[in-house]
Amino acid sequence: MALNSINPTQTKAWDKLKDHFEAIKDDHMKTWFEQNPGRADEFTIKWDDFYVDFSKNRMTSETMQLFKELAEEIKLKDAVSSYFEGDTINQTEGRAVMHTALRAPENSKILVDGVNVIPEIYKVKALMKNFSDAIINGTKKGFSNKAFTDVVNIGIGGSDLGPAMVVDSLAFYGNHLKPHFVSNVDGDHVNEVLKTLNPETTLFVIVSKTFTTQETLSNATTIRDWFLKHATQDDVAKHFVAVSTNTAKVEAFGIEASNIFPMWDWVGGRFSLWSAVGLSISLAVGHDNFESLLEGAHKMDTHFREEEFETNIPTVLAFLSIWYNNFFEAESEAIIPYTQYLNQFATYLQQAIMESNGKSIDRSGNEVGYDTGNLIWGEPGTNSQHAFFQLIHQGTKLIPADFIGFTKSLHGNKDHQDKLISNYFAQTEALLNGKTKDEVVAEGTAPEIIPFKVFAGNKPTNTLLINQLTPESLGKLIAMYEHKIFVQGVVWNIYSFDQFGVELGKQLATKILHEINTSSITKHDASTSNLLNHYLGNN
Ligand code: F6P
Repeated sequence: MALNSINPTQTKAWDKLKDHFEAIKDDHMKTWFEQNPGRADEFTIKWDDFYVDFSKNRMTSETMQLFKELAEEIKLKDAVSSYFEGDTINQTEGRAVMHTALRAPENSKILVDGVNVIPEIYKVKALMKNFSDAIINGTKKGFSNKAFTDVVNIGIGGSDLGPAMVVDSLAFYGNHLKPHFVSNVDGDHVNEVLKTLNPETTLFVIVSKTFTTQETLSNATTIRDWFLKHATQDDVAKHFVAVSTNTAKVEAFGIEASNIFPMWDWVGGRFSLWSAVGLSISLAVGHDNFESLLEGAHKMDTHFREEEFETNIPTVLAFLSIWYNNFFEAESEAIIPYTQYLNQFATYLQQAIMESNGKSIDRSGNEVGYDTGNLIWGEPGTNSQHAFFQLIHQGTKLIPADFIGFTKSLHGNKDHQDKLISNYFAQTEALLNGKTKDEVVAEGTAPEIIPFKVFAGNKPTNTLLINQLTPESLGKLIAMYEHKIFVQGVVWNIYSFDQFGVELGKQLATKILHEINTSSITKHDASTSNLLNHYLGNN
């Protein structure tokens, strides 16, 4: 079944939300906490090792009730069924969206176009396990019979960001293999990586769903040429493997069929880390940890699929995000993990969220008359506190933020952990309560300085407190955001799983590259012509 096309702003619930917004938009959350001692408990979801407190938001139980009504009017439950059951919900590309099948148990039966995809998924996972085990334990060796020491993932977008983020996030669980990621077509990127590598002990994993992506093919070609300066054509088979749907193109590139890890059309690039695209993860942290990541994601899938809206973590987070985006007109959301391991998490989410929901045409093909996709940004705390928190606390923009923290650190340094977590709690408390003029006066502040030291507070945050950063909890966390993206796209009545917006620039780049190569500039706007001529030294 295709997704319905219902304009959310034409529902009864939306009208009620508008009235409700007018009624509470100037209320201070502080007052709600004072009036309702049960508020924190009422707006906390405890699930597995997740403690999700969303009470520090500018919403009441009525807000949640109205969003529930909205979800019913736009038929969210039907959409969730279509999503999990392999319907062609990526309608503009004519595909199902089945990343959830990649983490389903082996005894599941999930049909895509009438075929159960589970046996094929498990076959590929077995290939991944055998391969990564053999590389890690040294039974598979390089051309000079030395064990591998380094793995280079060559890919871009979803074929880079997911694996790179997970490998970085799970560095604690890493083995002796040193992971590297080459993504940018910038030759300086690939050369900086190559200069650290020994061709005899380096494995290259070329990841490209389509195997037509300019950046990845250019980097793979440069790396293969570099490799061939040190080895023979026959040695390529020992050092280069690929992950792709496009076996013909991979073989044409010179990679043997036995070195290709397949993936499928129904896995979107930005949701593909759960497939063989995660081979670098399996290599860097071992296949068992990769499986735990998948198990965590599957637990979140089950939670999302079965839990009622009000206790459903991804759904509640999506409602809140829509509330700020469409009613408070907040333009961006910050993601602040309190662990350095999640350093790349916001970058990863930028593709997942902005490539998915950065759309302005609704599911009937008309321009939407309301805001969609959020701008996503963030950095780990406490570093970010010393960078951009000033603006969140005292700037003019409303920036809802997710604070992601862990009860236990991985290296077990209690002194650091207590300091880190104190900052995590302190920031959301400060953002909630702010600091009144009276409090500033009471500190003995000079009268002319008083206004600068007042904090309005009333800044919304979600606090996600998770026991520990493990492959499983990371899997849950990533899947949580994936489902949040899905709910937002359904409510906004857009197609979240295509990405036509990245095409135009790619096409023009191909044309311009030809012009640069042939030194023949064709007609462009005056600005682009001048720039091209300047680059070519013509002006
Ligand atoms: O950025 C556009 C995009 O198509 C992404 O969706 C995808 O993750 C990336 O390019 C890489 O594509 P491929 O895996 O086919 O090389």
